[in-house]
Amino acid sequence: MKQKKLKLILNQIFQKYNLSKDHSKIISNYLIKAELLGAPSHGLARLKMYCDRIKKKLIKARPKIKIRKISNSISHVDADNSIGFIAADIGIKQAIKNAKKTGIGLVAIKRSGHYGLSSFYAEQAVKNNLLVFCFTNAPAALAPYGAKKSLFGTNPICFGVPTGKAPFIFDASTSMINRGKIRRASKLGMKIPYGVALDKFGNITTDANKALKGTQLPIATFKGSGLAWMVDILSGVITGSSHSGKIKDPFDDFSGPQNMGHLFITINPKIFIGKNFLKEMKINISRIKKLPKAKGFTSILYPGERKNKTYRKNLNKDISIPSKILKELNELNAC
Ligand SMILES: NC(=O)c1ccc[n+]([C@@H]2O[C@H](COP(=O)([O-])OP(=O)(O)OC[C@H]3O[C@@H](n4cnc5c(N)ncnc54)[C@H](O)[C@@H]3O)[C@@H](O)[C@H]2O)c1
Repeated sequence: MKQKKLKLILNQIFQKYNLSKDHSKIISNYLIKAELLGAPSHGLARLKMYCDRIKKKLIKARPKIKIRKISNSISHVDADNSIGFIAADIGIKQAIKNAKKTGIGLVAIKRSGHYGLSSFYAEQAVKNNLLVFCFTNAPAALAPYGAKKSLFGTNPICFGVPTGKAPFIFDASTSMINRGKIRRASKLGMKIPYGVALDKFGNITTDANKALKGTQLPIATFKGSGLAWMVDILSGVITGSSHSGKIKDPFDDFSGPQNMGHLFITINPKIFIGKNFLKEMKINISRIKKLPKAKGFTSILYPGERKNKTYRKNLNKDISIPSKILKELNELNAC
């Protein structure tokens, strides 16, 4: 579908669900961006879920988001159960503002919801010449190391830094793959890779539906479990949001708002070495890129480099939408 047409349809849908014109535009742009980045797990495949939750008033269509200033560097956002995209968009802009003023910005967001890809927000900070960390917790998907039952979310860790070229953005779930990929595979009747999830009996499965009822595997066993735990504390405990398995699954749990938390940290990378920063960054990347290549590799990429290429390649292309998701889109637009 042409991007212009898709944008129009998405805007119409969100406005029908009583979101403001401005908020509808922001969310539509993020959903389209996920598709253009080659991350459809966080794009249109989730549209119906967001609409269902807005309809059930679990996401507020017209939230009253409040920003409490704690210091020139630190702010606390109460998202009032808005859709995560809007809370996070406001949060990162505040974190950028704070870091520009003082060298460092720390913004905690509570009472939010699923916000898509952390890289959406990291990229904004990097484009403002800042180094950035983004954390969010997520619904139970991973069993803590030594436990039988899922409790941690796929809790991504995101770090971004300017390079003078395409932004360096490391944005990875603490699970082997993100849950959106499993959700999308389940919706489209596709298999998931071997070794990323267990069924409810603890056996490895490639069946997406069985994986959703079982547990996902963390990266690097107890290390991934520890990182997921760290993210839960940073984005859940200290922000005043739900944590330790209490984030509601947006697809299956309609008993209340998600109450997710996010934490953004923005830093002026020049605070210690001044204008030498970019020079040193370039040296750093070029030393790594120049290394002799391992078997099967012709180049060494830094995190975010390939996604950036994909995005630029797709920027003016039509978006291909699987028929099942297109049907949902048309139904949402018709009602
Ligand atoms: N909102 C939420 O609740 C939530 C929860 C979990 C994950 N997510 C999102 O899902 C996405 C993570 O998915 P994932 O873990 O499947 O990511 P992934 O495995 O596709 O990529 C992880 C990271 O590795 C880098 N990378 C990939 N291939 C590389 C290569 N060949 N060389 C160098 N670097 C490479 C990527 O740039 C990326 O930064 C993130 O954007 C994350 O924010 C969101």
